[in-house]
Amino acid sequence: MVEVRTVELFCGAGGMSLGFKRAGFELVQAYDSWDKAVEIYRRNLGGSVWQADLKDIFRIGPMLATLAPDILIGGPPCQDFSAAGERVEGERAALTRAFAMLVAIVRPRWFVMENVPLAARSQAWIDARAMLVKAGYGLTEAKLDASYYGVPQRRRRLFVIGRLGEQDGFLESALAAARSPRSMTIRDMIGDALGDACHFQPCVSGTRGIWTTDGPAPTICRDSRRSIPPNYRPHPTDSVLIEAGAFYTRPYYEGRGVRTLDEPAPAVIRTTRERPRPHYLANPHPADPVPAATAAVLTQKQVSRIQGFPIEWDWSSAGSRDTDQMIANAVPAPLAEAIGRVILAREAGDTIPEIQGQFGQWLRQQHGFSKAVVRNAKTRLNRARRLLDGRTFANASIEIAMLEATEGFLCLPTGTRSDLRKALHLYREWQSYAKERQAKRRAADLDIEAIAA
Ligand SMILES: C[S@@+](CC[C@H](N)C(=O)[O-])C[C@H]1O[C@@H](n2cnc3c(N)ncnc32)[C@H](O)[C@@H]1O
Repeated sequence: MVEVRTVELFCGAGGMSLGFKRAGFELVQAYDSWDKAVEIYRRNLGGSVWQADLKDIFRIGPMLATLAPDILIGGPPCQDFSAAGERVEGERAALTRAFAMLVAIVRPRWFVMENVPLAARSQAWIDARAMLVKAGYGLTEAKLDASYYGVPQRRRRLFVIGRLGEQDGFLESALAAARSPRSMTIRDMIGDALGDACHFQPCVSGTRGIWTTDGPAPTICRDSRRSIPPNYRPHPTDSVLIEAGAFYTRPYYEGRGVRTLDEPAPAVIRTTRERPRPHYLANPHPADPVPAATAAVLTQKQVSRIQGFPIEWDWSSAGSRDTDQMIANAVPAPLAEAIGRVILAREAGDTIPEIQGQFGQWLRQQHGFSKAVVRNAKTRLNRARRLLDGRTFANASIEIAMLEATEGFLCLPTGTRSDLRKALHLYREWQSYAKERQAKRRAADLDIEAIAA
């Protein structure tokens, strides 16, 4: 496999780096300004991490250019945008612009930027986006829920994935295809730690309660309290959690505090593992499956695992509060790994973007194509894209020139070549039509809003 040289900005304790490393990326350098995070990164992922203030673009830009990475990744601080913060755009929001500037200076083939979903509406991202587009990147902006990418936590985050020369949205269908059909739960996580056995309270009395993690899982009923059979010894780290069958996490605003093991945890924040306060105990959320007082309070190790760090991740050089902060800051490694794999598969030409929207319907209505001709047009479009290794080019002439330069294309009969070119042209025509229609709809929506106001 080709080595993809990777540099991470704002690396924190290393969650995102760990995921990309597992996916097969070569970590060449990482930067963060926080000494504690740099130390945790170093002891778990190795020495190529520097403490540096990334606002200092004059110093960092030339350094990065010398490293010549193939991909820049990073999650600039999100406090200025996050629902939990005050949402005043200040110096930390400006670091999103700094990330974009560094990408524009270094111009790696790819970049990945992570932030909270609200960042998408910030002025900092509008500015950053304009710089990235100007620098020649096609963008895929996706809000992904970590619980569908191997993480037992409902954590929605904005990921912006850029690749030089692409059309916007080029990786959307591949990210959707990598999503698992159901959310990962805390019980799934505990099962991993238990190794060869995990306990499910049987839904029907007298049926099996211990299952191996290698075999098919039983149907899980939503009974929240699960007693442990006397002869069963759970993993010591999780015994309290398993016995309680439910866990408490500090709720956001008026949200729910207690969840069963058959759910993902809510998004981890610094105070996730706080005990329930008297106010909550006196005014519990109506949907709590059991009283908060009987639910387990998560340990720091468990929260670290819920954020995708392996059980053996060494946090020992940092104090407890700093560790909670670093855990909460992280991109869960399994989510980063899934994104990394999607990128590598596209880089290798193993995936192509799916045909979007109502292309077929448009061909029938606009060009009077029969069903069979529509099918042929789609097959030819996919064939052209496979020859292009899944690349979608922002510039139509470059796309055709690149297609014509591929070896596979040169071997084809003249008629087939012309069919493939035509399929690419038709799809572009459909894309401009769809774009225009969307713009008209937006304008009409604005008119209606103005009338209503
Ligand atoms: C959201 S966290 C990144 C977490 C990381 N992606 C992970 O997966 O663990 C943002 C990081 O930006 C760092 N940071 C804040 N201001 C910085 C600056 N001026 N220069 C460099 N790093 C900075 C913080 O110390 C924090 O670790």
